[in-house]
Amino acid sequence: MQSSVQALRGAGIAGTGACVPERVLTNFDLEKMVDTSDEWIVERTGIRERRIARNGEVTSDLAAQAAAAALDDAGVSAGEVDLIIVATVTPDMPFPSCACVVQAKIGATNAAAFDIGAGCTGFVYALSMAHDLVAAGRYSKVLVIGAETLSRITNWSDRNTCVLFGDGAGAALVRPLERGDGLLAFVLGADGARGEVLTLPAGGSAHPASHDTVDQGMHYIHMQGNQVYRFAVRIMVEATREVLERAGLAEGDIDVVIPHQANQRLIDLAAERLGSPEKVYSNVARFGNTSAASIPIALDEASRTGKLKTGDRVLLVGFGAGLTWGAAILRWCKDEFHA
Ligand code: UT7
Repeated sequence: MQSSVQALRGAGIAGTGACVPERVLTNFDLEKMVDTSDEWIVERTGIRERRIARNGEVTSDLAAQAAAAALDDAGVSAGEVDLIIVATVTPDMPFPSCACVVQAKIGATNAAAFDIGAGCTGFVYALSMAHDLVAAGRYSKVLVIGAETLSRITNWSDRNTCVLFGDGAGAALVRPLERGDGLLAFVLGADGARGEVLTLPAGGSAHPASHDTVDQGMHYIHMQGNQVYRFAVRIMVEATREVLERAGLAEGDIDVVIPHQANQRLIDLAAERLGSPEKVYSNVARFGNTSAASIPIALDEASRTGKLKTGDRVLLVGFGAGLTWGAAILRWCKDEFHA
């Protein structure tokens, strides 16, 4: 739901950063691992390759590097950060939180830190929280990070899922704006009753890790892909319409759309229904689906490659495990922090 926080001031993104592992896994590599083909994967998903963390490289490593890049971009030191929110479904361990590990790794000793779990929608949820906390005057420099190592929860012998996912992290620093607002509207939603179509069943209180859960592969992603697909097409369109309404804008007012990078077919379909294919940013071919990291990685790429201009209105829209969805409209105002 939209926040009812009494906004005292505006908030915007002052810097972004991203980090993906060096190791590339191509569709041709996957052909040697499961019964699949480059042709099938490209046709059904648009994915050509993805990045996979090396042994010992963990979610907080990618998150910390993305965070450091965002701080550098914003010209803010780690000691000035007062809150870190990490959106992830693959923290280094259930606790301490990934955000606390990141806090230690980047030396953000004055920051509070916590994780949120909203599946692939996590970054939009976290950005909404950051906006409200900054707008309410509670915090002034909030690091919002989406970070995942999905390769660690992927069943590499299940062709239905293993071709889709990749590892990576993206980050944004949210700061108060003197005038106007940078983060214009949010829509967050959930349909917990449909959660069973995308789960990681074991490792929690329902099915604590045991030999049995491991034997049954319950520590891997389980997904009914076509169910998620149908939900995603509908919800991306609905969430977009709703967030536009909240912002008092029309489709034509949006300059750049950054959807969750799950599948090129999904991105194309949503873009077609929204009537704006040329505005949609996609990097799914190179990184696959990196869950909560996909939107902030794409946002950082779009910023660094000059696709985002000051004043551009940017739509973020995502969906994922929960089931959850979220959309945000922001005004690209990074330069206003450096004026
Ligand atoms: O971030 C949110 C996470 N999830 C998603 O975004 C997933 C959304 N869903 C999707 O992207 C698509 O549903 C998939 C890409 C997962 C699957 O595409 P699809 O067009 O829905 O295929 P399907 O599941 O209906 O499967 C069609 C066929 C099946 O064979 P049969 O039963 O028709 O003989 C599958 O066994 O394709 C087969 N198949 C494969 N074949 C070659 C499934 N995976 C593969 C594969 N290589 N990797």
